[in-house]
Amino acid sequence: MLPKEGSDCTLSEFIFTSAPEASAMALNELSKAGVSSHLKSWLAPGVGLCVSSESQASCQERLSAFPPVFIRHLCFVQTSRKLEPVVETTQLCAQQLVSELPKLASDRSLAVQVRLFRRDDEETAWPWTRQELERAVSGAVLAEHPGTLLSVSEPQQIVSVVCADGHVYAGVSQVADNLSAWPGGERRFAREALVVSRAEFKLLEAIEVFALDLPRDGQALDLGAAPGGWTRVLRSFGMTVTAVDPAQLSPAVLEDPGVRHEATAAQAYLRQASGVFDVLVNDMKMDPRASVALTVSAVRALRPGGIGVLTLKLPTHTQERVVAASLTALRSVYEVTGARQLFHNRSEVTVALRRPQ
Ligand SMILES: C[S@@+](CC[C@H](N)C(=O)[O-])C[C@H]1O[C@@H](n2cnc3c(N)ncnc32)[C@H](O)[C@@H]1O
Repeated sequence: MLPKEGSDCTLSEFIFTSAPEASAMALNELSKAGVSSHLKSWLAPGVGLCVSSESQASCQERLSAFPPVFIRHLCFVQTSRKLEPVVETTQLCAQQLVSELPKLASDRSLAVQVRLFRRDDEETAWPWTRQELERAVSGAVLAEHPGTLLSVSEPQQIVSVVCADGHVYAGVSQVADNLSAWPGGERRFAREALVVSRAEFKLLEAIEVFALDLPRDGQALDLGAAPGGWTRVLRSFGMTVTAVDPAQLSPAVLEDPGVRHEATAAQAYLRQASGVFDVLVNDMKMDPRASVALTVSAVRALRPGGIGVLTLKLPTHTQERVVAASLTALRSVYEVTGARQLFHNRSEVTVALRRPQ
């Protein structure tokens, strides 16, 4: 078991999660942020256990000064134990974990998030399912801290439990410190029958992760809109949408009176555009340098204080360099309010922007 925060020893352990292909870049981000840590082991593809010679508070301070792009989720480990499958019951394990955690704030809502990983070469499965352990840990939390409000969808603090490599790791943190309110950053949305493209989930996730406050009844410009997923999301927020794409929109989107389809390239549209929009989104399939240059030039179509969302389609190599150069170029006219490889991004990074007032 690790010493608790506040003890003399400042050693801390944390588990970070990124897309498996981005794990080397995620590790790099830790050192760029100045977090003095080293990788102890990979618990699963893209899931690394790190040990740091600094305290949890100090690591968190560094990460909030240099928010990572490729790390989707991070949770500190305050207690860990090797699993003894013969003697361990789910309830006993849960009680011991909770008794070893720092004190929980009983006036703050709490979620218990369990992740189970098993290597292919491991013979024995875990003696519990994710749901069983989640229930047992929740029960132990309530027994030790009666009156705690358990909330899956809007927690303020999270007990994270990771079972991997024959060990159980657990820690408690404030939701903002985990970078995502969802276990491992895996934000899943219920699939509605009307969804026109998977891309919808990217925008929904961006709105949530970057806490974008879309103006109801506002005007939105959607560059690279077809088949219309993002347009549909913006409409669901009550916005009127100008959807620019030479490709066809899905019939349901096209028939919506709140959507105007401009069947042309974004460059051509922006040359003659006269309107001023509250929101500008760009999910164009385009080289990131060209897409950033176009987004920079499109700033005049956005009202001061207006919100932008852009997906950078990353090349196979030099991804870190491309992201850094893109953010620098965007900062010449925008405030970058967030940049993250979201759970729904594939070889992409989503950037949230604001036009300065
Ligand atoms: C990933 S799709 C967009 C998906 C869309 N966001 C959705 O939710 O349905 C990329 C789109 O960019 C469009 N595109 C590529 N270059 C463009 C350009 N120069 N101007 C406008 N659209 C462009 C493509 O036609 C394609 O429909």
